[in-house]
Amino acid sequence: MRNICLLGMTGSIGKNVIDVVKSNPQDFKIVSGCFNSNVDEFSKLIKYLPDLKKVLIGEKSLIPSLKNQYPNIEFYCKDDGYEKIILTLDVDMVVNSLVGFEGLYPSLLSINNDLILCLANKESLVVGGSLVLDNLKKHPSSRLYPIDSEHSSLYKLLNHYSKDDIDSIYITASGGSFRDLTFDQLENVTLEQALNHPSWKMGSKITIDSATMMNKGFEVIEAYYLFSLPLDKIHVLLHDESLIHALIRMKDGSLIADMATNDMRIPISYALYEGKYHSTNVPKLDLESILSLHFRKMDPERYPSLNLAYDALRKGKTYLCVLNASNEEANLAFREGRLKFNQIEKVVASCLNNHQVEDNFTYQDLQRIDYQTRLESRKIIENLKQ
Ligand SMILES: NC(=O)c1ccc[n+]([C@@H]2O[C@H](COP(=O)([O-])OP(=O)(O)OC[C@H]3O[C@@H](n4cnc5c(N)ncnc54)[C@H](OP(=O)(O)O)[C@@H]3O)[C@@H](O)[C@H]2O)c1
Repeated sequence: MRNICLLGMTGSIGKNVIDVVKSNPQDFKIVSGCFNSNVDEFSKLIKYLPDLKKVLIGEKSLIPSLKNQYPNIEFYCKDDGYEKIILTLDVDMVVNSLVGFEGLYPSLLSINNDLILCLANKESLVVGGSLVLDNLKKHPSSRLYPIDSEHSSLYKLLNHYSKDDIDSIYITASGGSFRDLTFDQLENVTLEQALNHPSWKMGSKITIDSATMMNKGFEVIEAYYLFSLPLDKIHVLLHDESLIHALIRMKDGSLIADMATNDMRIPISYALYEGKYHSTNVPKLDLESILSLHFRKMDPERYPSLNLAYDALRKGKTYLCVLNASNEEANLAFREGRLKFNQIEKVVASCLNNHQVEDNFTYQDLQRIDYQTRLESRKIIENLKQ
C-alpha cells in the first residue's frame, strides 16, 4: 500500500490520478494534496478521497470556509510550506501534477526525503534538471517515474534495450491546435481556437504550450535530463494521431515504437506502479479501426519556440529558468488577452537575449531569477501592447 500526496489534485492530471487510485484502492491511498483555488472541483472530487487528511491551498483566503465545510481535513496555506503535506502521514509517494515553476520545490523536497516521485510537472526538470539529478544521486533510495506520455513510453523502451544498441530516440508531437496553419496565418488566432487541441484534453497552460511547440521543447529538455542522452540523439517527429508516443532507433536501423490510446491514465498507472504494467480501465486501442498513421518532418521555421528551447538547452544553466519563467508569463498573458499568440516567442527570445548567465546556482538562485524574469517579461508584454 502506498500513501500518496497528490499535488495539483483539481487539474487535468490530478483528476486522472484520482481515477486510477479509485480503481485500485487495495494499492493506493491519497492522504494529502494541494490545489490553488478551484473549490468547486475539489467539492466534486472529495467523495473519491476517503483517506484525505491534509490539504494545502494556494489561495489563502479560501481556508476559513473550507475548514467550516470539511472539519475532518486540516487545511494549510503556502506559508506553512509543502512540508506540511509531504513530510507527514507516512507519505511514501508524491505525485506532482502542479503546473509551472511552482512544482520544482516540492519535487526537490520529495527527492531529498527519499520519497518516490511520480512527475507530471515537466517544468521541474526544465528549470532545475541538474539540481534534480544531483539530488537523486545524493538520495539513491528516492526514485523518479515520469508521467508525461512520451517519457513514460521512452522509459519503457529504454529499460528493455541496451543503451549500446540504441542509435537515437524520437519524441512525437501532434503539432498542436494550429498544425494546419502557416506561420503567417497565426497573426490573429484566438484563445478559443488555441485551446482546441486535436488529440489531448489537458490544462490550459500546456495546451497553449503545445500550440507554440514550447511543450515539445520542454519535453526534449525533460528527455535530456531523464535519459542522459546527447541532444543530437533526441529527435522530434510530427505524428497527427498521437497514438505512437515515442520511438527508439536501434543501431542496425530498426525502429521500435510504443503505441497506446491517448489517455493519460496509462502513463499514470505505469508511474504509480513504479515502472510496472498494471490493468487499466482505458479502452484498448483497436488497431483494425485505425485507418492510417501519419508522420511529418518538424519544420523549425514554423515553430520558433522549439528553437528557443533547443537554444536554451545548449546554453544550459540559468538560461533554462529564464526560458520557463518568460514562457509562463507570456503564455498567461495570451490566455488573459494581453498578448497575441505569435508574440509569445518574442517575449521569451527577448528575455533569453538579455540574460546574464550564472554558472553555479541553488534553488534559491532559481527562485530569484524566476522572479526577476517574470518582472522583465511583464514589462516587455506591456511594451508590445503599445
Ligand atoms: N494534462 C495533461 O494531459 C498533461 C500531459 C503531460 C504532462 N502534463 C504536465 O502536468 C502538469 C499539470 O498539467 P495539467 O494539465 O494537469 O494542469 P492543470 O489542469 O492546469 O492543473 C494544475 C493543478 O495545479 C494546481 N495549482 C496551480 N497553481 C498552483 C499553486 N500556486 N499552488 C497550488 N496548486 C496550484 C491547480 O489548482 P486549481 O485547479 O485550483 O487552479 C491544479 O490542481 C504540467 O506540468 C503539464 O505540463 C500534463
